[in-house]
Amino acid sequence: MTTTVTPPDTAQSLTLDKLVKTYSSRGRESFQAVKGIDMAIRPGELVALLGPSGCGKTTTLRMIAGLETVTSGSIRIGDREVSQLPAAKRGIGVGFESYALYPPMSVRENLLYGLKARKVKGAEQMVDSISRRLEMDDMMGLRPAGLSSGQKQRVALARALVRNPPVLLLDEPLSHLDASARQRVRRELKVLQREFGYTTIVVTHDQVEALSLADRLAVMDAGVVQQFGTPDEVFDDPANLFVAQFVGEPQINVLHGVARAAGGAVRVEIGSGAGALDTTVTGVADGTKVTVGIRPQDCVIGSATGNGIRVTVAYFEHLLEFGLATSTVAGIEEGIVVQTPAAESYEPEQQVTLSAPAERVYLFDSDSGERLR
Ligand SMILES: Nc1ncnc2c1ncn2[C@@H]1O[C@H](COP(=O)(O)OP(=O)(O)OP(=O)(O)O)[C@@H](O)[C@H]1O
Ligand SMILES: [Mg+2]
Repeated sequence: MTTTVTPPDTAQSLTLDKLVKTYSSRGRESFQAVKGIDMAIRPGELVALLGPSGCGKTTTLRMIAGLETVTSGSIRIGDREVSQLPAAKRGIGVGFESYALYPPMSVRENLLYGLKARKVKGAEQMVDSISRRLEMDDMMGLRPAGLSSGQKQRVALARALVRNPPVLLLDEPLSHLDASARQRVRRELKVLQREFGYTTIVVTHDQVEALSLADRLAVMDAGVVQQFGTPDEVFDDPANLFVAQFVGEPQINVLHGVARAAGGAVRVEIGSGAGALDTTVTGVADGTKVTVGIRPQDCVIGSATGNGIRVTVAYFEHLLEFGLATSTVAGIEEGIVVQTPAAESYEPEQQVTLSAPAERVYLFDSDSGERLR
C-alpha cells in the first residue's frame, strides 16, 4: 500500500545533554527523577526507552515535548535549542494517551481537525491511509466517548502520526491492545516510522516490544540511562548487572563466585568444590569475590573437560521450542536455569556438567554491579 505523503526532506537529530528534572512539591523534599541524561539520537532513528516503573521515562519524554519544565541541561532538535520553547513551537508529535479529543467530533473528524486548520494538502488521504494501516476502519465514525481504551490509544497514535512531525514521542503507545493487535500495530508503526523518517522515542516496559522496534535501546534505571546501544550490544555486552538482569528472557542467571588467576584471564569458582568456569576477564585479582552472570541460552550441558561446574537438575520443563532445566549447585542457594535444545530431556536428580563459552560468562563488581572486563 502506498501513501500520498512525502517524508520530511530532512529528518532531524535529537540531542539531550545533561538533562535533569527535580520535582519540588510543597511540604515534601525535592526529588530528582531524571539525573543527567545524555543521548544523541540520529535523524530518523527509533530509540526505545526501556526501564522499570518510576525510573523517569515519562518525565524525560514530557521534558522533550515541552509539557514539563527542564531543571537543567539542554534539548536540541537539529542544532536548535528547544528546552525553553513552548511545546507548540518545538515541532514535536506527541502520542500521549491523555491527549484530549473533541467529544462532539468523530474519530475521523478529530484526526482531520488540526490538519485542516493548517490547510495541509492531502489531509484526507493521509488520515485514511494511516488509520487503515492502524486497523482503525471500524472506529472512524465513532465519537471518543464510545471508544475502548485500546481504540483510544490507536487514535492518539494516529493523531501524532498524521501530523508528520520531525520528532515523535510515544509513551507506551500499545499497552492497551490485545496481544495479536499489538503485534500487528507494532509492525505497522515500525514500517510507518521508516517510511516517514520521524526521529522517534518509544517508551515501553515491554522488552520484546523494545527489541522489535528499536534501532537503539536506552535502558534506564533510577533516573539514569544505564546503557544506550543496539539491542544486540545491550544483550551481548551488558554494561552492568542491572542491564544484564533487565534485558533477556528467561532472565540471566546470577551467581556468586571467586575469581582465580589462571594465566591471563581468570576462572571463576562457583559453590563449594562444584568446579569453575573460564572467562575472558583479565582485570580482576585472584581471590576477588565477584557476581557472575550467565544467560540460560549460553549454558551448555555436557561432559565438559576441566571447564565446567557439576550441577543437579532439580526440575525440567519441556516447552515447545526448547527446554528449561533448573539446576542446583552444591554450596550455593541460587538455582541455575539452562535453556536446552528441544530434543533433549533431563530427569530430576540427574547430575550433569554445565559450562558456557568463556566470552559469555560475565563478571560484575559485587558491590557496584559494574561490569568487570
Ligand atoms: N509531578 C510530579 N511531582 C513529583 N514527583 C513526580 C511527578 N511526576 C513524577 N514524579 C516522580 O518521578 C519519578 C519518575 O516518574 P515517571 O512518571 O517519569 O516514571 P516512569 O518511568 O514513566 O514510570 P512508569 O513506567 O510507571 O510510567 C517517580 O518516582 C514519580 O513518582
Ligand atoms: Mg511512565
